[in-house]
Amino acid sequence: MSKMEVKTSLLDNMIGVGDMVLLEPLSEETFIGNLRKRFEHNEIYTYIGSVVISMNPYKSLPIYTADKVEEYRNRNFYELSPHIYALADEAYRSLRDQDKDQCILITGESGAGKTEASKLVMSYVAAVCGKGQEVNKVKEQLLQSNPVLEAFGNAKTVRNDNSSRFGKYMDIEFDFKGDPLGGVISNYLLEKSRVVKQPRGERNFHIFYQLLSGASEDTLKKLKLDRDFSKYNYLSLDSATVNGLDDAANFRTVRNAMQIVGFMEDEVQSVLELVAAVLKLGNIEFKPESRVNGFDESRVKDKNDLKEMCELLGIEQSVLERAFSFRTVEAKMEKVSTTLNVAQAYYARDALAKNLYSRMFSWLVTRINESIKAQSKSRKKVMGVLDIYGFEIFEDNSFEQFIINYCNEKLQQIFIELTLREEQEEYVREGIEWTNIEYFNNAVICDLIENNQNGILAMLDEECLRPGTVTDETFLDKLNTICAEHQHFESRLSKNSKFLTDHSLPHNCFRIQHYAGKVLYKVEGFVDKNNDLLYRDMSQAMYKANHSLMKLLFPEGNPAKVNLKRPPTAGFQFRASVGTLMKNLQTKNPNYIRCIKPNDKKAAQVFTDSLVCHQVRYLGLMENVRVRRAGYAFRQAYEPCLERYKMLCKQTWPHWKGPAREGVEVLLKDLEVPKDEFAYGRSKIFIRNPRTLFFLEERRKQCLEDLATLIQKIYRGWKCRTHFLLLKKSQVVVAAWYRRYAQQKKYQKIKSSSIVVQSFIRGWKARKILRELKYQKRCKEAVTTIAAYWHGTQARRELKQLKEEARRKHAVAVIWAYWLGLKVRREYRKFFRANAGKKIYAFTIQRIMQKYFLGLKNSMPSMSPIDKSWPARPYMFLEGTHQELRRIFHLWRCKKYRSQFTEEKKAIYEEKLEASEIFKDKKALYPCSVGQPFKGDYLEINKNPKYQKLNSVIDEKVLLADVVNKINRANGKGASRIFLLTKKHFVLADQKTGQVKASVPLPDLSSVSVSTQSDGFFALKLKEGTPSAAKGDFLLSSDRLIEIITKLHRSGTASAEREPINVDISDEFLVQFKQDQVCVKFIQAGPKNGNSVSCKRKNNRLLEVSVPSP
Ligand SMILES: Nc1ncnc2c1ncn2[C@@H]1O[C@H](COP(=O)(O)OP(=O)(O)OP(=O)(O)O)[C@@H](O)[C@H]1O
Ligand SMILES: [Mg+2]
Repeated sequence: MSKMEVKTSLLDNMIGVGDMVLLEPLSEETFIGNLRKRFEHNEIYTYIGSVVISMNPYKSLPIYTADKVEEYRNRNFYELSPHIYALADEAYRSLRDQDKDQCILITGESGAGKTEASKLVMSYVAAVCGKGQEVNKVKEQLLQSNPVLEAFGNAKTVRNDNSSRFGKYMDIEFDFKGDPLGGVISNYLLEKSRVVKQPRGERNFHIFYQLLSGASEDTLKKLKLDRDFSKYNYLSLDSATVNGLDDAANFRTVRNAMQIVGFMEDEVQSVLELVAAVLKLGNIEFKPESRVNGFDESRVKDKNDLKEMCELLGIEQSVLERAFSFRTVEAKMEKVSTTLNVAQAYYARDALAKNLYSRMFSWLVTRINESIKAQSKSRKKVMGVLDIYGFEIFEDNSFEQFIINYCNEKLQQIFIELTLREEQEEYVREGIEWTNIEYFNNAVICDLIENNQNGILAMLDEECLRPGTVTDETFLDKLNTICAEHQHFESRLSKNSKFLTDHSLPHNCFRIQHYAGKVLYKVEGFVDKNNDLLYRDMSQAMYKANHSLMKLLFPEGNPAKVNLKRPPTAGFQFRASVGTLMKNLQTKNPNYIRCIKPNDKKAAQVFTDSLVCHQVRYLGLMENVRVRRAGYAFRQAYEPCLERYKMLCKQTWPHWKGPAREGVEVLLKDLEVPKDEFAYGRSKIFIRNPRTLFFLEERRKQCLEDLATLIQKIYRGWKCRTHFLLLKKSQVVVAAWYRRYAQQKKYQKIKSSSIVVQSFIRGWKARKILRELKYQKRCKEAVTTIAAYWHGTQARRELKQLKEEARRKHAVAVIWAYWLGLKVRREYRKFFRANAGKKIYAFTIQRIMQKYFLGLKNSMPSMSPIDKSWPARPYMFLEGTHQELRRIFHLWRCKKYRSQFTEEKKAIYEEKLEASEIFKDKKALYPCSVGQPFKGDYLEINKNPKYQKLNSVIDEKVLLADVVNKINRANGKGASRIFLLTKKHFVLADQKTGQVKASVPLPDLSSVSVSTQSDGFFALKLKEGTPSAAKGDFLLSSDRLIEIITKLHRSGTASAEREPINVDISDEFLVQFKQDQVCVKFIQAGPKNGNSVSCKRKNNRLLEVSVPSP
């Protein structure tokens, strides 16, 4: 715990007193009053020393949250208000840290909250112990074993809707670190009579109802069950459904829990089959059948249920049926078979059902143990949790109550023993003198029941084993004779005459004075229940079942292992298991939770004094308090004691330097507490009376108030002071900052002023210097100027003189030269010829010509005949020569060019030339034909197989072959035709088939007409009277018009016997169509008529061709 944490104590904010030991005065009224007060404030836990009293609140309280777990974790027991978690924490920590095995004994009557308390302890331990995958799995398995066992072992009773009908002791095993490793569960005495019969207002075990409500239709069908509770004799109907209990949901929880615990699916199935078998068994009924010997023999009434049960468990029906009618008794070597009457058959049936169920329950516990068994073999620390039925006092108490009360008697014994022992040990440990405590020791009652010679259980066994007729009455007789003298045994017929007239004691009963009160037991059924007889025929029939779990449950049915010895009686078995349990508990450190039920109505906030008083009595709680405070009521370790009360004494407040014990001594002395009120132990102070403790608490409370004022005062002072200091500090900071700021401002002002002054002075000085310098400079300049002027004057003067001199010298030289020239000319004139001038001229001209030709040679134009360039004329007088040379050069160049031509090329050019002669400047189409070579045969007739037929018709050389448009005379539209030209004919043929349409000998052609425009229309006019003219002239159009006409024209000029064909070029010409003459007129079309030539027949006499303007 950190130093700053406030130490709390159980004594803080107590409602009533948290520990009954502190109750003053101590009486039953004050005890119950304290319980009530706390209960009304929802304080359900109260201590008696280290024992926790738990009142069942019958409502959920917010005190089991994770926060609460954290609050109680690692805290001392008395540090916080009483809680079951404090006990669990104490137990777990001493297990983990001090290596002491622990057991937690939870007792109380039915419905007091034992099972809930045990679960709370387990869940607390699970929450605080180690974590990790493996550990969590173990925890989960341990926790999930609860729902499984509760389903099979709990039932609704009048006292508790979830009453445990078996005792349970669970050892949880931990490793050295305190992590859980596993566990072992022991079960005690399942109330199996409930399987066949339930008291009014109660139910059978939960599992029957859960199975019928929660299982799927499919499962029920497999188990041959019906959802309807009323169909089963073993299920009581009056309280089949319980408020607030959802059987169907619980069934799912149970199945889930079984899975987590580790049950295999087929194991779960087997268990459910057994549950179903029990229900079926209950429905088997018997009827009497008279036998010859006069006895009645039982027979199964309706065999349907029997059949179904046998099918479920795989039993042969006849075997079981026989077992319900006969009983075989084996004695030594003999086997005697007797018949069963109806009553015996019912007895046998119920015995089988009870045994089947209780053995299955024990198997479940064994199976769970297998799963939760600790894996490691290392030494384990153990925490046992005992949740066992409390003391029971009913109107009719039978064998079960006897057994249960015996168990509680034993528990009380060990409680007293261990509490006293612990108390004594503490005194010894602390070195305090032990004062003997008077208390009631119930060993004598235990002896009455369990004594081997004359104990009630021993006598019951003796009676059961005795040959001859044994009844409950003979057993009571025996008790009456043997126990009569015992001071805790009461019976009407005993020799102790004092009960002879006691009418509260019926004849068939005996009464035992238990430590918790007197209980009257009805002797009826004791013998039977102790015998717990199951006919061997039954167990053998079960063993024969084809069901592995059944076989396992009835091992005595194995014919190979017939054991003639009687099985141990129920009493004997129980005594033995209680003995083992006690031994087990004695080796552990006990922790007690005493559960109390506040009312009989299962209602919250209802506290019935008489009921609580009864429980307080039989739980021996007053005894417990008394024992606890026999010597000293309260004890506390020195450190926490000093810590709590140190403010009561000046020497110890606020800090005690020495050992805590001395501090406490000083403290108590200072407070003048009487010496006999306390004793100093080794580590604890023991306070005899709660009074003293309350005195200390009262003083502490007052002192705390004073201290609170003091603390407040100091705190306020401290707060003001710190506030003031803070203000002061802030003020200093602010002042410093302000001063700095002011000084800074002032400094900056001075600085700027000094700069201004300085700058003025510097300016003034500078200007002064500048003036000076300027003056000096001007002086210098004046001097220079004067000097320059003077030098200038000097120089000019000198220059003038020099010039004068030079002019004179020059004049002298000129004169001299002229004079010399004259002299020389006069001297040499006699050497010159008279025609020297002519020669010089001729020479000069020669030179000039030479230069001209050389220049011309170097700048000759290219050899292309169309190159018009010619070098410029250098001299005017060479104009004629220059032009002549140009002409000659051009002619020569053309000749050179022509000489390269072959014959074919020549012919082509001739053709071109002819075309030019015919069309140049006459037809607009001509210019664009110049660049196109005249290929002639465009169709390659002789190569194209399509025109083979055509080819065969023409035997001459084809000059031209092309596709042309033949213009229809009627509408002006065109049709494609092949146009062939040979030396003698022109032929028109079909373009597709090559069939000849017309073949005209060239001499029949008179003229050709074309327009001046850029269209390709041409008319071939035939000579009148020739055979070809019969059909009329041809009007054709072709893009290669120029070529076609030229070729036609040439063929005319080439042959000697024909005159050349006339070519008319005009925009209007006449064409002879059969009889009619039609005028073909070419007009220029507007731009909207598009770019194509169109031809229309306007009337009989006019065909109009519109040609787009170029
Ligand atoms: N701490 C608790 N908080 C809220 N309800 C409680 C508490 N303890 C017990 N109960 C209620 O009391 C009922 C009975 O408690 P529980 O089953 O623990 O009794 P029991 O002492 O085990 O009885 P029996 O001996 O019949 O088994 C619980 O079902 C629950 O409703
Ligand atoms: Mg219970």
